[in-house]
Amino acid sequence: MKIITDSRAERFLGRRTFLKLSSAAAAGASLSTPLLSGCSDGSNSDGSNNIPAVDAPMVVDPATPWWLQNNFGPVYDELSVYEPSVRGTIPEGLSGLYVRNGSNPRNADSPHWFFGDGMIHGVRFENGRPTWYGNRYIQTPLYELGLGFGDPNAPPFGGNNQSNVSAVYHAGKLYTSGEIGFPYLVDPDTLSTIGAYDFEGLLTTSFTAHPKIDPATGYLHFFGYWFLQPYLTYNVVDTLGRIIHSTTINVGTTTMMHSFAITERDVVFWELPVVFDFEQAMAGVANPFFWQPEYGARIGIMPLGGSGDEIRWVEIDPCYVFHEVNAYRDGDTVVIDVCRHNQAFGEADAEEAGRIHRWRIDTSGAQLRFRDEIVLDREFEFPSHDRRFTGRRHRYGWFVDQRKHPDTTDLAGIGRMDFDSGLTSYWDPGSTRHANEAFFVPRGNGEGNGWLLSFVHDHKTNESVLAVLDAEHVESGPIGEVVMPRPVPHGFHATWVPPGDNRS
Ligand SMILES: [Fe+2]
Repeated sequence: MKIITDSRAERFLGRRTFLKLSSAAAAGASLSTPLLSGCSDGSNSDGSNNIPAVDAPMVVDPATPWWLQNNFGPVYDELSVYEPSVRGTIPEGLSGLYVRNGSNPRNADSPHWFFGDGMIHGVRFENGRPTWYGNRYIQTPLYELGLGFGDPNAPPFGGNNQSNVSAVYHAGKLYTSGEIGFPYLVDPDTLSTIGAYDFEGLLTTSFTAHPKIDPATGYLHFFGYWFLQPYLTYNVVDTLGRIIHSTTINVGTTTMMHSFAITERDVVFWELPVVFDFEQAMAGVANPFFWQPEYGARIGIMPLGGSGDEIRWVEIDPCYVFHEVNAYRDGDTVVIDVCRHNQAFGEADAEEAGRIHRWRIDTSGAQLRFRDEIVLDREFEFPSHDRRFTGRRHRYGWFVDQRKHPDTTDLAGIGRMDFDSGLTSYWDPGSTRHANEAFFVPRGNGEGNGWLLSFVHDHKTNESVLAVLDAEHVESGPIGEVVMPRPVPHGFHATWVPPGDNRS
């Protein structure tokens, strides 16, 4: 285990490469490999090994980085469009605001897809009628000053992040997060930026892009990792939006920790060996997070709302997990379903595509006991779940599939997995269409009763739609599509602002 001293870290802060690594961590993925996997097993998105006919192959100009072309490239205008048109039927019960964040480099010179300025795209619905589409940059100092990555005038602290990974709605506040540093508050009426937010001075490190809201209490639980001690902190926010609990968790150094999970009584971390290397960073390596299996890998479980010194750890085989589906308690056992990659940020040839695994941690004895089971041998990522069941036993998860393309990331369709039966269903949007994260919006009672919202782009027509699917019947494809007035670049994570609940 390599321990980094604060003095070395402080020397490093402000260096050009630091911002690069901050952004890499924020995006939660490698500089050199596609987002969803390093390689794949040769099967197609339908699980077969047949090579499908491609209607119009996605052409990648080798002279331009892939993240600046096709639908990964930025858009520059900020629109407000009322009454966008619809194909099919948007369900009458759909009312609220969908907001999705992503990377959109203002100067079109980002060194990677993940290093652009944050831009949110929103679609508002009233009783099934889309009334508005708008998009806005997150007005961070990096954006406002037109600074590129690594500019020494924007040292990586507080609001000096691009806030480009996720959107979160809690306690009447709409946040965006870049994973490193403070979140930003956004006006849900206009999507304009209010400013960086440090929870009245109580947040001093970082706000993860994947906080969790406990459905029983309405409390928001989040962690932050940082490059100085404390490397890892855990915080609880009450229903009034106030940090009411903070604690430090003792870990050896900075590792890329993209998400975590809660159960009704536990907080679950996975500390995995994608390790920040100060020496490499100071030497100018663009992405100083490295696969270092010798660091070890472990899962930590502590009481929900508890103290960091109550955490218990269990060693596991080295692997990497960006995203979990959900976690829950089954008696003395904590169950976590994850999109597990054999490694990340290592040699690309050694990286295998992510697969769905079920982790079980028996907490009954003096030592935690860990069991790992693969439950779906398929390249699903960007997991979603019914957030009314966050931390509770879940049956369903929804995912985005990925096709193979030698020169770019090729997002495909949307899958649903029934963890009880092991069965999956899948919507194949066609070879020229590409789905993004499928965000679950609840409809009626019962887990999985709801809709999925996903931006889908057709590279043949250069049209984007916001597709609405019945979450219980993804194989039927979209019920309706809101036609976007312009292409919406592929992005990351979304949230939902319920109707009548959009003011702080
Ligand atoms: Fe993520």
